[in-house]
Parts: sequence; C-alpha cells; structure tokens
Amino acid sequence: MIVVTGATGNIGRHLARNLLAAGETVTAVSRGASAPLPVGAGLTAVRADLAEPESLTPALRGADALFLLVHGSGDGLDAAAILDTAQAAGVHRVVLLSSVAAGTRPDLSAYDGFRALEDAVTGSSLEWTILRPGGFHSNALAWAPSVQAQRTVFAPYGDVALPSVDPADLADVAAAALLDPRHAGQIYVLAGPSTSPRDRATALGVALGEPVTFVEISREQAREQMVGWMPASVADDTLTILGSPTAEESAVGPDLTTVLGRPGRAFAAWARDNLGAFR
Ligand SMILES: NC(=O)c1ccc[n+]([C@@H]2O[C@H](COP(=O)([O-])OP(=O)(O)OC[C@H]3O[C@@H](n4cnc5c(N)ncnc54)[C@H](OP(=O)(O)O)[C@@H]3O)[C@@H](O)[C@H]2O)c1
Repeated sequence: MIVVTGATGNIGRHLARNLLAAGETVTAVSRGASAPLPVGAGLTAVRADLAEPESLTPALRGADALFLLVHGSGDGLDAAAILDTAQAAGVHRVVLLSSVAAGTRPDLSAYDGFRALEDAVTGSSLEWTILRPGGFHSNALAWAPSVQAQRTVFAPYGDVALPSVDPADLADVAAAALLDPRHAGQIYVLAGPSTSPRDRATALGVALGEPVTFVEISREQAREQMVGWMPASVADDTLTILGSPTAEESAVGPDLTTVLGRPGRAFAAWARDNLGAFR
C-alpha cells in the first residue's frame, strides 16, 4: 500500500490514478478542505493533517511507501516528527516533493521548510528520492479569472522564459520513484519546456481559439496580488526567481527525460487539457 499526501491536489490526483493503474492500493491523505477524490477499488481516503504528525499514523500503518507533499514549503511543520511517524508505522520508502529553489536559493528563507524536509528525509533510515521541480504549468490557473472575464493575462516579467512542468509529469516521476528502488538516493531536478509568461498567454489563446492579450504588470503590482494567497516573504522570493532566474533555474536539465524516457509535456498541451478552467 502506498500513502499519497496532497492527494487531492494538482500532482496527487494524477499520482493516485497512476498507482491504481499500476495495481497498487492507495491511501489518499488530505485534511478534507479540498474536493475529495472519488473513492473506488483500491483507493481509501483518510483525513489527516501534516501539522499534526500523529494524525498520520492510521493512514501510514501497513504502508510500504509514502509520497510526501506539503502545503507551501512546509514552513512550521515538524519534518523530523513526520519522518519518525512514517518509520514507526513501517514505511520503508519516501518520495519528497521539494523545489528546485531548495538547491538554487540557499539565501532565500521561503525555501527553509523544504531544506528542513530534505534534511529529515536524507537523515532518516528510509529509502528516499527527492523531486525538485521548477514552476508548474498549473500556476496559470491564477490567470483563469481574468482570462474568463477579459481574455487577458496580467503578469510580471513577460519576456523572462523559464522551464515549467506539468503536474501530471511530476506524478509520473513520483510513481516511478515510489515503485522502483533504482531511484533511491536520487535528487531529481524536474523541468519541462521553457516558455515566457507572454508565450503562455499566447498558448492559452490558441487553445481557446480566441486571442488572449498579455499585459505586463510591475513587480509591486504582482506582489500586491500574490500576498492575497501567500505570505509576503514567499511572494518576494518567488518574484526574485521569476525576474532574475539563476542559470540552473533557467536550464531544462535532463532528469525528467531520463526518468520518463520522453520530454516533459508542453504548456500548450496542458492548456488544451485544462481549457474548462479558462472558458
Ligand atoms: N506551483 C509551483 O510552481 C511549485 C514549484 C515547486 C514546488 N511546488 C510545491 O508543490 C507543492 C504543491 O503541489 P500541488 O500543486 O500538487 O498541490 P495543491 O494542488 O496545492 O494541493 C495541496 C494538497 O495538499 C493538501 N494539504 C494541504 N495542507 C495539508 C496539511 N496540512 N495536511 C495534509 N494535507 C494538506 C491539500 O488538501 P486539503 O487542503 O484538503 O488538506 C491538497 O490535497 C507545494 O509543496 C509547493 O511548494 C510548487
């Protein structure tokens, strides 16, 4: 049995489906704040809160492996207690969803939570794999209201291209790492094809069959919007990466293609698959 945390989110939904298709039984963990997964053959949904590690025990009992995905960067979580709880329950393999910035931005405090989780994972006696993705294609969902209302994307740094990755590809990599011990001890930096915000607005327009206008906003305007759904320090650090990426953040490295045997899915394909959110 495999426990998937964040099971109702962008990655977790795909991952639960992948593991079921591979013949695994899955325990899907979330707090129950988001829409539940349809429970069916092989899938059990359990409510638990990573902020209360002991609440994970009923889900983890009898599990072989754990996919660990936290909200934000896991700030405030007791990383060591989560790993201790998993070990005590008999889990022997963990796959952690971290961020490329855990490696590239040692100076930015927004990623301290991921570094603490990575340290707890690598310091545990479990077999581990760490996934460090760049930005997700699904971040474009933040544009859905203005695309629906005005066929317009408002975003900063319109021409700064960065690799982004389809959450479904991350789920494919996570499934591989959960099922195949050859991925143990690996830290994978996961990036799909590179596009700028302006390119992504154009791709949304092509998918919709109607032009989508791109309007570049300032860093301050973007920050004002972002603090509505994330802490100010995280907004600041995210904007620093979006505006001035490092060479590693800008590169489309080989790990995703190596693990999956194919390149990452393009943003345009994600846009076609998720058109309903933008209509
Ligand atoms: N977006 C990016 O560009 C990017 C880049 C690199 C890394 N990441 C990382 O990717 C992760 C987000 O992945 P995602 O987009 O697949 O997730 P998501 O769609 O935001 O969903 C979050 C999931 O976690 C669950 N959850 C939230 N808080 C929880 C808690 N305290 N205990 C148990 N479950 C909890 C949610 O369900 P409930 O609310 O019902 O509990 C939901 O299932 C974050 O760690 C983020 O930092 C994102």
